[in-house]
Parts: sequence; C-alpha cells; structure tokens
Amino acid sequence: MTAPSLLALLDPALRQDPYPTFRQWRETAPISGGNGQPLIVTRQQDCSTVLRDSRFGHAEGEQTGPLNSTPPPQRSFLGMNPPDHTRLRGLVSKAFTRKVVERLTPMIEQTTAELVSAALAEGNLGNTVNLMDAIARPLPVAVICELLDVPVEDRDLVVAWSHDMARGLDPDFLIPEGVRDRQFKAREAFRQYMQQLADKRRADPGEDLLSGLVQVQEAGDVLTEAELLTTCILLLIAGHETTVNLIGNGTLALLRNPGELARLRAEPALAERAVEEFLRYDPPVQFTARIALQDAKVGSFDAPAGSAAILLFGAANRDPEVCENPDTLDIGREPARHLAFGHGPHFCLGAPLARLEGRIVFEALARLDGLELAGEPTYNDNIILRGLKELPVRIA
Ligand code: HEM
Repeated sequence: MTAPSLLALLDPALRQDPYPTFRQWRETAPISGGNGQPLIVTRQQDCSTVLRDSRFGHAEGEQTGPLNSTPPPQRSFLGMNPPDHTRLRGLVSKAFTRKVVERLTPMIEQTTAELVSAALAEGNLGNTVNLMDAIARPLPVAVICELLDVPVEDRDLVVAWSHDMARGLDPDFLIPEGVRDRQFKAREAFRQYMQQLADKRRADPGEDLLSGLVQVQEAGDVLTEAELLTTCILLLIAGHETTVNLIGNGTLALLRNPGELARLRAEPALAERAVEEFLRYDPPVQFTARIALQDAKVGSFDAPAGSAAILLFGAANRDPEVCENPDTLDIGREPARHLAFGHGPHFCLGAPLARLEGRIVFEALARLDGLELAGEPTYNDNIILRGLKELPVRIA
C-alpha cells in the first residue's frame, strides 16, 4: 500500500477502488503531509473542523487565465472567502429557494420517465445500454437548463459547453493545455449565451431561477452583470457532473450489491435513504481543498499560512466514528453523517435539488423488472469528480 500523498491520490490506479487505500490511510496516518506538502485529512471530524475554521479558505487574488493572452476567468463564490462569499451566497440563495426547486418536480419526473422508457425500448431489443448516456448524463443537464430557462432547442449547445467545462473543478496544473483552452472557450460561449437570456428575463421575468437572479435584491444590494453570469456558470458546473455521478455511482453500487437492489425493488420508498447512502458510500466529489489564510493547525499538524489542506471526503465518509460497518452498502440505514455536499459556509447550495433528482431516478429504477451489469464499467479521468464514463447494463 502507498503512503498518503497528493501524488498517490492522483494515481489512475486508485480510480477503480480507492476505498481500501483510504481506509489504510485513515487508520495509519489520519493526518499526513506538511513540510511543504499539502496536509491530507481523512477523518470526518478533522475535515469538518477545517471546513468550519475561518483560518482556512480559498487563495486570494486573481486566478490566472489558461493562456497568457486570455483574461483571467472571474471567480465564482465557490472560490471566495467572507465577506464576498457571504454576500454573493446570500443573494443567490434568496433566488434559489425551496419553492424554485419543488417547482421542478413534475419536469424531473417526466424527463426521468421518458429517459427510462427509451432505455427500456433499447433493452427490449436485446441491446446493452450505457446507463450513463441513457439516463445519468441527460437528466441533470436538462434540469439545470430548466432552472436557467434555456429553451429546449438550445440544450445541445449547453450540453457541449458543459462537457468542455467539466474538468473545471480539477486543479489547473492537472489539466492538459488543449483541454484548458476548450474549457476557456466554452466558458466564454456560455457566458455570452446566458447574457442574452438574462437580458430577455430582465425585460420579461418568469418564475425560473434566472429571473429570480436578475431581480434579486437584499438591503439594496444586487448581483452585478458579471456576478450573475459567473453564478450561472457555477450552477452549470457544480450542479451537472456531480449529479450525473450520483446517479452512476449509486446505480453501480446497487448492481454490485444485488441484495440491496432487491430491497429497493421491494420498497421503492427507500429511494430517499438510498440516495443518502450512495452519497456516503461513493461520493461524486472525492475531496476539496483549503488554504491556510494565516498560521493554523490541523490536529497536531502545523499548517503555516499559504499551505494547503486536502479534505478527503472519500475517506471521511467511511470513518467508523460516524458510521457503523462503513464499507457495507446499507440503503435502509439511519442516514449516517457524510461530507458529500461539503460542510460549513460552502455547504452545497444545490443539495435539495440533487436529493430530489436522485430520489426520482432511483424510484424509477426500482420499478424496473430487470437491471443488471452487462460488462466492466469504466471511469472518467477527472480527479476530484469521481464518476463513470460507461456503465453497461441489461435493462428490462
Ligand atoms: C458546493 C457537492 C449538486 C450547486 C458544493 C460542495 C460540494 C458539492 C462538496 C462544496 C465544495 C467545497 O466546499 O469546496 C455536490 C454533489 C452534488 C451537487 C455531490 C450532487 C450529487 C449540486 C447542484 C447544484 C449545486 C444540483 C445547483 C444546481 C452548488 C453550489 C456550490 C456547491 C452553487 C457552492 C456553494 C458555496 O460555495 O457557498 N457542492 N453538489 N450542487 N454546489 Fe453542489
């Protein structure tokens, strides 16, 4: 087994099943690194403590552009510290209300039903279906388009941009130049596109989130045009591949644990708990990072100002301190505390929406007569976002 390090974390060999390695790290070196290397934090309590600690945050200053000739992309509030983060998150959450999310329920149910019946038609022809292409990928992007009021005829455009931006959550130095260039162009194209939509919504507001964002005001404060567009990009990136991977990783977990799949079939109402268990068991976001904004400590480890800490959700979610038999998938368990949506001031703003999408999809999958693995699944290259490229299934 390898010792915990950033390099070990980035090793493609880890992708297939990182959890035995994470377990070993958590048991033998729950916090490691330091002396110029990022701290790697594996226990849930320690991860939560860092995420709540105001001495840790995001690096200040301009992000550099992918190419010298291009201007730096504007930072979204995901990468900001208080007070800017507090102000922007406050404004956005005023528009991204429970009502806005609940309004999407019929659309999510209908889209899920359509995708599942198209997949069934393929399956009934005797074809193997890639569940990622058939269900997991199309649903979340359709939902975000609905949220941002993107007309149906333009969705393919958004899907293509979103695909090019998908590695946006990985650290810049891990992304090959060509990919970064495409990512930058996609961002710009999406920004220009959303600008037009926002202008339309300003003149003729509806009940969608975009209309909410253009109108939102708090104590006389509003989102500037640039903040509005950066927020739309954040929602597309943060809300898209993450949810795709919840559906993919959750389905694979069920297929590899047929007893749990049978249990869900017998009792589809377990879908809500099952989603919580999938998020814990195989989280789409494997880790996040923070920088020490001043000299700080994690446990007994020094974190001098400017040093990084990696909070390893994949390890923390299986910490036996917070979950009994953490390596066992148990969709009926009393939901265990997990960090799949983060913790503290940056806690995922889209969690209610992701949970809603997850529940609806797994209820629909529970109603199928037959669902089984039809080949070896393959993983994407992304580092922070853990998810499948192909999930071949037989479906009936
Ligand atoms: C933040 C996970 C779905 C919007 C986060 C963070 C995590 C996360 C871990 C915190 C990152 C950090 O602290 O560094 C997930 C997972 C999802 C999901 C696993 C699906 C299963 C969504 C959806 C949306 C969304 C559907 C919106 C459409 C956001 C936003 C933030 C965020 C805006 C930034 C919050 C802030 O910085 O204050 N998400 N997310 N997420 N997420 Fe999600």
